[in-house]
Amino acid sequence: MTRIRKAIFPVAGLGTRFLPATKAMPKEMLPVVDRPLIQHVVDEARQAGIEHFIFVTGRSKSVIEDHFDRQFELEAALVERGKKADLALLSQDLPEPGTTSFTRQQSPLGLGHAVWCARELVGNEPFALLLPDVLVQHKSGCLAQMIDAAASLDDNANIIAVEEVPADRVHMYGVVGVGAAKGKAFSITKMVEKPKAADAPSNLTITGRYILQPQIFDLLEKQTAGTGGEIQLTDAMVALARTQPFYGLKFEGRSFDCGSKIGFLTANIAYGLERPDIAPELRREITRLLGGK
Ligand code: G1P
Repeated sequence: MTRIRKAIFPVAGLGTRFLPATKAMPKEMLPVVDRPLIQHVVDEARQAGIEHFIFVTGRSKSVIEDHFDRQFELEAALVERGKKADLALLSQDLPEPGTTSFTRQQSPLGLGHAVWCARELVGNEPFALLLPDVLVQHKSGCLAQMIDAAASLDDNANIIAVEEVPADRVHMYGVVGVGAAKGKAFSITKMVEKPKAADAPSNLTITGRYILQPQIFDLLEKQTAGTGGEIQLTDAMVALARTQPFYGLKFEGRSFDCGSKIGFLTANIAYGLERPDIAPELRREITRLLGGK
């Protein structure tokens, strides 16, 4: 498959599930330990070799753009105080000049519409799509595993990260039908957005990481509203699957649905427990909270 150079990050969502925290602050800036959600997801994309980061933002999201820029006053203060480690951290996270693009989704018409808003910035090449609500904890990241799997698939393949969820949760996600295995991936036979448990083709749900061919944009342009009255990406993928192969990859690692309060809190604990600087104390505090010693 052609090298995947660009990634889209849809960050226009209102974040109503986290009100009032998200009244004046984008949900993508909520921290998991000490890094905003969006930074974790950008890290995953960088680790997978992505070179251009395309953010589909909305009104009141400009702080995300600021986050990926330099902050001169802060840098000057850190230099003055001799805080070398903090300075190094900031510069290590800073994207190369010219490798970020920001465009706006002017109306909240759904994920499919948000992706379509990035069409001019992506152009005519396959691209990655990462939903910042979802974090995947794995040493090499989820997208890198997908790009690895893509190397042995057809040039016009589309790949989606999938995972098993309990039957009573499938209605919250896009769900795929499972066909023949191909290397580490499998052929997708069906895709349905948020089906009732009884209509779900399996318990394998779409995790929020995609590698898609640019032909999806023409289909998104024509896509009418689906589930929830929104223009659904999954519906356009169903249309694309009529002419191009779609594969699912059961990735390694644990995912956290940070769009939900429990997923977000669990992610904070899980990522905290992976950090040598805070894990021992965090472990002690959790034990105390749970009534242990
Ligand atoms: C979106 C997709 C869905 C996918 C989910 C993963 O839904 O439409 O197919 O399973 O992300 O988080 P949303 O959570 O935006 O409603």
